[in-house]
Amino acid sequence: MVEWAVLVSASVLAVACSSSSSSSGKGGAGGAAGAAGSHAGAGGGSGSGGGTVAALQARGKYIVDHVAACGDCHTPMGMNGPIQSMYLAGNPDFIVLPNGDKLGTRNLTNDETGLKNRTDAEIKDMFLNGTRPTATGMEPLNPTMPYYVFHNMSDDDANAIVAYLRTVPAVTHDIPRRGASFEVPAAAPPVPVASIPMPAATWPDQASALRGRYLAGQIGVCMECHTQHLAPGSATVLDETKLFAGGEDFSALFAATLHIMPVSKNLTSDSQTGLGMWTVDDVANVLKQGKAKDGTGICPPMPVGPNGAFGGLTDGDVTDIANYIKSLPPVTNMIADMCVFPPMGGGGAGGAGGGAGGAGGAGGGAAGAAAGAGGGSAGASAGAGGQSGVGGAAGA
Ligand code: HEC
Ligand code: HEC
Repeated sequence: MVEWAVLVSASVLAVACSSSSSSSGKGGAGGAAGAAGSHAGAGGGSGSGGGTVAALQARGKYIVDHVAACGDCHTPMGMNGPIQSMYLAGNPDFIVLPNGDKLGTRNLTNDETGLKNRTDAEIKDMFLNGTRPTATGMEPLNPTMPYYVFHNMSDDDANAIVAYLRTVPAVTHDIPRRGASFEVPAAAPPVPVASIPMPAATWPDQASALRGRYLAGQIGVCMECHTQHLAPGSATVLDETKLFAGGEDFSALFAATLHIMPVSKNLTSDSQTGLGMWTVDDVANVLKQGKAKDGTGICPPMPVGPNGAFGGLTDGDVTDIANYIKSLPPVTNMIADMCVFPPMGGGGAGGAGGGAGGAGGAGGGAAGAAAGAGGGSAGASAGAGGQSGVGGAAGA
């Protein structure tokens, strides 16, 4: 149980550090579009083939950067947030256990140390089923990689992700094999789609809520973070009887002196322990503005606000997600609110924390919030405000 908490907590450290979109994919996009265009040549003009592929790649980029937030785990972090020159190149130190064992996220770029020599089918098998081909056969991936959620995305969206990944510039970055503590006997089973809650029958906008169900539970990571994870070795990764009812503890991620003890909230519509008193707009404001209903900030690691991954969701997708969240049938699950944001920082490191907050704010979102939280109150409040310039000024 404890070990799992460390796993999950460490995994969200990277999630907190939202990758801002990379424009460097553009050059590669042309090449891949051309290649697919020639495949499509039999069916018509290369121009229309290329256009279709470009749309697929754009959809893939949106999913990778904002819906599934792949880069929050797969792009290594520097002092100023995600290292853009290492976009999706993997983080060898993604999780480091006290015994020294590491779990790295892998290199997803078009390099030999990344996915260059993988077929489309192999890449999909890895992120949808958690199986990696090796010289000696298939091996299961550690379920810190949420393939058991991504399994339930549409084929079109999975193809869009692959199409986009093919355009990501190559970075040579060999990620060592995971430490023994992270070996798993088998890939985690996918969450059965039927167990993902349906919108309450009384919810007025069923179509929107159903689209939100797909975004929040089948391709995105809301459900993963907002459901308690079971001990390793359990039959499932998540407590599937309490999906979206919160309770996952991320405290181990933060030094005790920082007083940041975030536990994911109960998102169901229970009026005592969940979001029963919230409106659709209240939920949308969390994603877009990084503000809770009472106006306070949202503790990391949730990547919210203008600079976070979710801040880049389209207004339509935000509305659909919020409709779905508000339509969730009530589940009683009291979550102790241990996290105040901005927190009171440890006094000594104030100046450094302010600087980090400013830099993170400029570089990308929740990273700034987390970095700001790392030090004095100047950095912390700058991060909470989500104002990149203010953080920098406070730090300097
Ligand atoms: C919460 C963190 C997290 C998120 C989010 C995440 N991954 Fe991963 N991913 C990992 C980790 C950790 C591994 C390594 C697992 C292992 O070695 O057992 C991994 C491994 C992989 C692999 C295997 C690569 C190889 O060569 O072995 C692929 C492919 C992959 N991820 C793609 C994706 C895609 C695409 C997304 C977004 C749709 C994504 N990941 C989102 C953590 C994450
Ligand atoms: C990386 C983990 C993570 C992800 C991904 C995540 N959340 Fe959160 N979320 C949290 C944590 C932790 C909190 C509590 C923060 C706090 O205490 O300030 C939270 C808080 C919230 C709140 C505020 C609830 C309240 O009572 O204050 C809402 C609403 C919410 N999340 C919705 C979502 C939605 C919708 C998604 C998907 C788009 C999502 N979350 C994805 C971890 C996550």
